[in-house]
Amino acid sequence: MSGIEIDRRLPEDFFSAALRDDVLKGLTADPKWLPPKWFYDARGSDLFEEITRLPEYYPTRAEREILTARAPEIAALTRAETLAELGSGSSSKTTLLLDALQAAGTLRRYDPIDVSEAALLASGEQLRRRYPQLTVHAVVTDFEERLAIPDADGGPRIVAFLGGTIGNLLPEERAVFLTRVRANLRPGEWLLLGTDLVKDPATLVAAYDDAAGVTAEFNKNVLRVVDRELTADFDPDDFDHVALWDAQAEWIEMRLRARRDVDVRLKELDLTVSFEAGEELRTEISAKFRREGVESELAAAGFALRRWWTDGEGRFGLSLAEGV
Ligand code: AVJ
Repeated sequence: MSGIEIDRRLPEDFFSAALRDDVLKGLTADPKWLPPKWFYDARGSDLFEEITRLPEYYPTRAEREILTARAPEIAALTRAETLAELGSGSSSKTTLLLDALQAAGTLRRYDPIDVSEAALLASGEQLRRRYPQLTVHAVVTDFEERLAIPDADGGPRIVAFLGGTIGNLLPEERAVFLTRVRANLRPGEWLLLGTDLVKDPATLVAAYDDAAGVTAEFNKNVLRVVDRELTADFDPDDFDHVALWDAQAEWIEMRLRARRDVDVRLKELDLTVSFEAGEELRTEISAKFRREGVESELAAAGFALRRWWTDGEGRFGLSLAEGV
């Protein structure tokens, strides 16, 4: 009825099993860490949407500015029939691309790929109303671990990975991930990649430590997720939000710093974790890029950079790369 085909690739117990593994590994490590993917339950996704509207958080607006200006050029150059989107999230940037591909007369298919079936269904319905002829083939998967870009016969595909989310991966992980993306494509197919750029540290830190405290709430949300899913007793008020710029690695790090000595009981894991006052738990890295770095990482994965665009203020980069 809805015309959306859904391919479910996650094992039945994915959420509980992967969270348990990650929490056990990360909270028993020194220094302690948790992967950023666990921010995004319903509340975390709402908080992220709120972040994208904050005055300090420029990446979303900067990327939208570039897409608005360049979508027609992307459509003309690629003549893509299929847009596949990794981490489709909200579909507001997607429509810029779909509109341009439709205007160019090549659009046939949209393949959103996301870990959240609810998010896929919601955005899929919306897009099918806007583009009644569009075939939507959604894939529910953890695309970092088990990437699956649907095969499509016919014309070329664009895989879009927007928002700067690739910056959440460590350099070695990015190399593996980009190589997998390339392996899912044929020569002559395309990757459209959004990357936040290196800039003055004050602007970067403010984007991850906003005055209204929304990012602090987003950061602490991972503790609420662990409490709920693993019957743990983190008190988010025992931790301070920390955002810092690592000038060597050129990434922003988000951490949670214990305000006092804290013992946390994780009942589901039969584990107690102790924090000393001042001890920090790393919850996210968000790498910032330069054109040369993006170009060489793409080349190492088998992509040739064909276009590089930034917003007017040079804050964010959008790469259009061709599989070679
Ligand atoms: C959605 C991963 C691109 O790293 O900027 C926003 C997430 N973290 N504020 C980013 C985020 C803190 C965001 N990404």
